[in-house]
Amino acid sequence: MQIEPLKQKYEQCLRDFLTQLQAIHIDQLERKWITISLLVIGLFVGIITIDAFFHGVNPPSKVETIDSASLHLNKEFAEDNLGVQVDDKGAIIIRMVAGRYSFFPKHIDVPAETPLTFRWVSMDVLHGVHIPMTNMSTMIVPGYVAEITTTFPKPGEYPVLCNEFCGLGHNHMWSNISVIAKEDWTAPVKSPVKGGSNNE
Ligand code: CUA
Repeated sequence: MQIEPLKQKYEQCLRDFLTQLQAIHIDQLERKWITISLLVIGLFVGIITIDAFFHGVNPPSKVETIDSASLHLNKEFAEDNLGVQVDDKGAIIIRMVAGRYSFFPKHIDVPAETPLTFRWVSMDVLHGVHIPMTNMSTMIVPGYVAEITTTFPKPGEYPVLCNEFCGLGHNHMWSNISVIAKEDWTAPVKSPVKGGSNNE
């Protein structure tokens, strides 16, 4: 294909467009509001960019699927495997299930100032999870595993809130996590996660 004529055609189009744009009469007041709205858009895009690159606020990018209907069976999210576990590399993995209207397990203890990887699944409908003062804010979509790594800055009680409307009990769907000083926290003694892959 000939590139040159195509390029000329597009350049001509662009020139025509700019001439037409200049010919439009824009009122002074209108111009002012256009500028304000562009500045507002710029501000929001700026906030999103800063959050993404400097505060680690990102959508979970890993598309990992799971069968929500069989969570309770003997697989990764079976009841015995839920809660805090330390894997063989020393990483702390927390598995939690969201369901109308609670997060399970109801209560966990985790260390402060330590990277924690949360793996969330929904057993029924769309839920969300938000933990103030951390970068934890994600949707929990049925059929997918939402994985987020976060760190709690200091010890205390942190609320865990559902932030997607999931039914009449949505307002009451919250629990809390006890964050303990790093030195005082001991890993729970548990059998390793059994049941193999989620998608067999
Ligand atoms: Cu779960 Cu709202």
